[in-house]
Amino acid sequence: MTPDGDRTRDGRLEGKIAAVTGARGGIGQAICERFAREGARVMAGDLARGDAPLPAGVDYLPLDVTDESAVRGFFDQVTATAGRLDILVNAAAIEIEKTIEDTSLEDWNRIFAVNVTGTFLVCKFALPLLRAAGGGSIVNFGSYDGFIADPGLAAYCATKGAVHALTRAMACDHGPENIRVNAICPGFIDTPMLQSFFGTSGDIESLKDEVRRIHPVRRYGTPRDAASLVTWLASDEAGYASGQLWVLDGGLTAQVQQMRVP
Ligand SMILES: NC(=O)c1ccc[n+]([C@@H]2O[C@H](COP(=O)([O-])OP(=O)(O)OC[C@H]3O[C@@H](n4cnc5c(N)ncnc54)[C@H](O)[C@@H]3O)[C@@H](O)[C@H]2O)c1
Repeated sequence: MTPDGDRTRDGRLEGKIAAVTGARGGIGQAICERFAREGARVMAGDLARGDAPLPAGVDYLPLDVTDESAVRGFFDQVTATAGRLDILVNAAAIEIEKTIEDTSLEDWNRIFAVNVTGTFLVCKFALPLLRAAGGGSIVNFGSYDGFIADPGLAAYCATKGAVHALTRAMACDHGPENIRVNAICPGFIDTPMLQSFFGTSGDIESLKDEVRRIHPVRRYGTPRDAASLVTWLASDEAGYASGQLWVLDGGLTAQVQQMRVP
């Protein structure tokens, strides 16, 4: 077993049809691979086609989550190709590393368009398919930044707080239809988004080491860590789990601040 607990558990999602947005990003890609390994057929939506090969059972469909007609078209294609939908994962997002004073209205509208409006639109057009399938599981991506703040990420933090609230509201509205809605709220997961957070100037490697050391588990999360939790939430094993915000941060936010003082 690897440090991120990766074990092959083929068959947990056997026969399920899943749609994943942000599917060509660090975490989205790992979710698609894991879902396929667990027996799901996956519709992988993203703006970018990406270079990494797609595993068997994963079909790429171009998708801009901010564009209502594109989202409608994406689910028309899911219906035409797979005939149903059981699982939706909303992993598409962008990050803008700025304080509020440095954030332009254009920046603000752009990050809300992708992270919040995108999640809204994708859920809106997926719900009829999930209902027609007799129920299903939606997993949104919040962040620990929706609870506490990293410096210089104000607009991003605000979008993740909105996703958390949307997740709870949808779980209440659609629970009676057997549709569960959860959000996973990662801390530091080693993906291109994390690299962008650390930037390119200064002694990045020392900074990364310092941040790694303040984690109780002394490592960053991997995309496979995130995919493991998403897989459980998407599966029938999580049949009683809904409306919750699942923090996945290696214990980072469990500790008191003075533990961070060297
Ligand atoms: N990496 C972390 O440390 C971390 C921490 C907390 C939360 N998250 C959340 O996890 C999720 C996945 O993040 P990641 O680290 O894999 O990021 P990433 O940047 O690697 O991937 C994001 C993907 O979203 C896609 N995307 C962006 N705009 C889009 C649009 N308009 N339509 C469709 N696709 C679009 C990008 O092309 C990219 O493939 C995000 O919601 C992110 O906010 C990540």
